Amino acid sequence: MPAPRWLAKANRSGFNRIIRLIAPWAPGFGVVINRGRRSGRTYRTPVNVFRREGGFVIALTYGRESDWIKNVLAAGGCQLQTRRRRHELTSPRLYHDDGRQGVPAPVRLALGAIQVYDFVALDIARPALTAATMGGMQTWDAITSRRNVREYDDRPISDQDLDRILEAGRRAPSSRNWQPWDFVVVTDRQQLQELSKVWQFARHVANAAATVALVAPEPANESERDWIQYDLGQATMSMMIAAADLGIGTGHASIADQQLARDVLRLPTDRFCAYLVALGYPRKPLRPITTPNRRPFEDVVHRGHW
Ligand SMILES: Cc1cc2nc3c(=O)[nH]c(=O)nc-3n(C[C@H](O)[C@H](O)[C@H](O)COP(=O)(O)O)c2cc1C
Repeated sequence: MPAPRWLAKANRSGFNRIIRLIAPWAPGFGVVINRGRRSGRTYRTPVNVFRREGGFVIALTYGRESDWIKNVLAAGGCQLQTRRRRHELTSPRLYHDDGRQGVPAPVRLALGAIQVYDFVALDIARPALTAATMGGMQTWDAITSRRNVREYDDRPISDQDLDRILEAGRRAPSSRNWQPWDFVVVTDRQQLQELSKVWQFARHVANAAATVALVAPEPANESERDWIQYDLGQATMSMMIAAADLGIGTGHASIADQQLARDVLRLPTDRFCAYLVALGYPRKPLRPITTPNRRPFEDVVHRGHW
């Protein structure tokens, strides 16, 4: 039994205000910044938090039914402010620990007094590209680590990470900057399973955490058709590199059954689905590939003339 409801109520009215003031910096405390599952509003929830290898453990003082933890699970992560620093956290995992072994001894006693046995462990997200880190090895690592990933583990992709990948696509260059693309993001399992039937080599879409459908206008002529293919290719690669940078795998899928894709995605009649990009944490983590299965460099590269 977690802390009683009356304590939650009392905390909300008075105690929490004090905790909220000290939580961003005081040892053992933190503020979980989470987004409402339905409202989309941002909430700042004070918590008891403890560092552990590669991440943090947070005590579920009011149990597993608190809204904030449901928000974090739904989003696949959150931000945490603690000791005056802000961390991006991913992969929330609930667990029950009668002995409260994951927390320091004095806190173990305090949490025991209010019968807290449930916790959530989260990992610190790999730092994504920022202006400060671009141009160094991180970009190169993302480029050399990307490969087609068709087997994913069960982890969801956080909303922040998904948005970053989509933003990378949105920023792609295009002919005359006409930006012919729309991106339809699918995370619903049933919809993913339906989408995976659009082509015999799209089966990986069924098990992906998410899939981005690249949608374009029906081309008016051959030139437009060529531009669309080139431009969507650039958007695809930007998204794939941004995903690789986050440790997220991607897999292309072509479309054979255009009508099925249109139906699943509910596309307007003047649009078609050009490709799918499946996303998910790879069963085998991404690592820079030292010997890629590509034609030899000297065979591909011509200097000055053919
Ligand atoms: C235009 C295009 C369409 C592709 N279609 C599919 C597909 O339908 N299914 C699939 O499993 N892989 C697809 N791929 C992935 C390629 O097979 C893959 O990129 C290639 O074999 C190189 O492997 P790598 O990406 O792991 O380096 C596609 C790639 C491109 C560029």
